[in-house]
Amino acid sequence: MGAIRFASSTTFFSADTVPMARTRHSSVFPPDPNRERAVDLALNLAEELFGVGSSGATPAWVRDRIRRYLDVTAKKDGVSIIDVAGRLLENRSAVEDIVASLRVGETRFYRDPSQWQALEENLDKLFPSDMPLSVLSAGCSTGEEAYTIGMLLTAARRRFKVLGVDRSASAIAVAREATYSLDAAKDMPPTWSERFCDEQRGRLRIGMLVRNTVEFEVCDLVKRVPQGPFHLIFFKNVLLYLTEPAGEQAARRLANELAERGILIAAASEVLRLKSMGLVSHRMAHGVTALRRARRHGSSPRT
Ligand SMILES: C[S@@+](CC[C@H](N)C(=O)[O-])C[C@H]1O[C@@H](n2cnc3c(N)ncnc32)[C@H](O)[C@@H]1O
Repeated sequence: MGAIRFASSTTFFSADTVPMARTRHSSVFPPDPNRERAVDLALNLAEELFGVGSSGATPAWVRDRIRRYLDVTAKKDGVSIIDVAGRLLENRSAVEDIVASLRVGETRFYRDPSQWQALEENLDKLFPSDMPLSVLSAGCSTGEEAYTIGMLLTAARRRFKVLGVDRSASAIAVAREATYSLDAAKDMPPTWSERFCDEQRGRLRIGMLVRNTVEFEVCDLVKRVPQGPFHLIFFKNVLLYLTEPAGEQAARRLANELAERGILIAAASEVLRLKSMGLVSHRMAHGVTALRRARRHGSSPRT
C-alpha cells in the first residue's frame, strides 16, 4: 500500500463540520439492496486501504455521504451505481476520493487553546507535581494532540508518558514519523516550536525530547481500550465516527481506565453527551469542562 497523502494541517473527519441533515434515502425512500451493497463495498475498501470507513460501527452520516458520492458519480459517468462500486476495486484513487469526501474535519497542534491553557493552569492542583503521569490520546489521528500533550508536560517539568492510539494504521504511521508541514507550527505557542521542534528539509520535525515521551499504537476503541490507569485521557472528536451504542461503550470503557483523580478531556460539543452517559463534569476554567468517572460505592480507587 502506497503512502497516504495528508493536507498540511491534517484533515480527517470532525464534529465541527458534519452535516446533520438527513438525506432523502435515510428519511423517505426504502433502502435499495443493490445500492446498500455498493455502499458496503466502498466502506470495506476505504477501511482496508485507509483505515477509515467500516469498523462494524459506522454512523449513518458516513453511509449517507458514500451513498451520495456513488449516486453523483454514477449519474456523471452514465453508469449504474454497481458499476461505480465495481470500479473501486481496481481504482485506488477513486477510493481515495471517497475517503477525502469523508475527511471534513481536521486535527492540529494546540487545538482548542483554552483547554490547553486551563490544563496548564490546573495541572499541579489536579496532580501533585512529583506524581508521574500517564496520558492517553484516544483517537489521536496523526499525532498532533499527543505531541501537544508531550510539549505541555515537558514545559511543566513533569515526569510522564503519553500513548496515542487510533484505528487508522495510516494515521499512526504519520504520527510515528513526527514530521509535519512548517505551517503546523503556527498553531503552537512560539516558545514550544522553538524549544521542541526542528526544521528538517523544509518540514517541521518534533524533537527527540518530546518524541521520546510519546508512543503510538493502532487500536480500535470499539474492540478494546488501552489499559490504564491514566491520569489524563483525551477523547476528542471521535464519538462522531461511532454509532451511539459503540460510542457509549468506548466512552464508558475509557472512563473505567481513569486513575482515581483522573480526568477525561473531550471537545466542548461532546461534554453533554458524555455527561448523559454517567460521567460527571469537572470545571477547569470559564468555558472549559473536563469529565470524571462517577464515584462508585465500595469501588477500589485506581492510582
Ligand atoms: C477528527 S480526528 C480527532 C483527532 C484528535 N483527537 C483531535 O481532536 O484533534 C478523529 C480520529 O478518530 C479516529 N477513530 C474513529 N473511530 C475510531 C475507533 N473506533 N477507534 C480508534 N480511533 C478511531 C479516526 O481514525 C480519526 O483519526
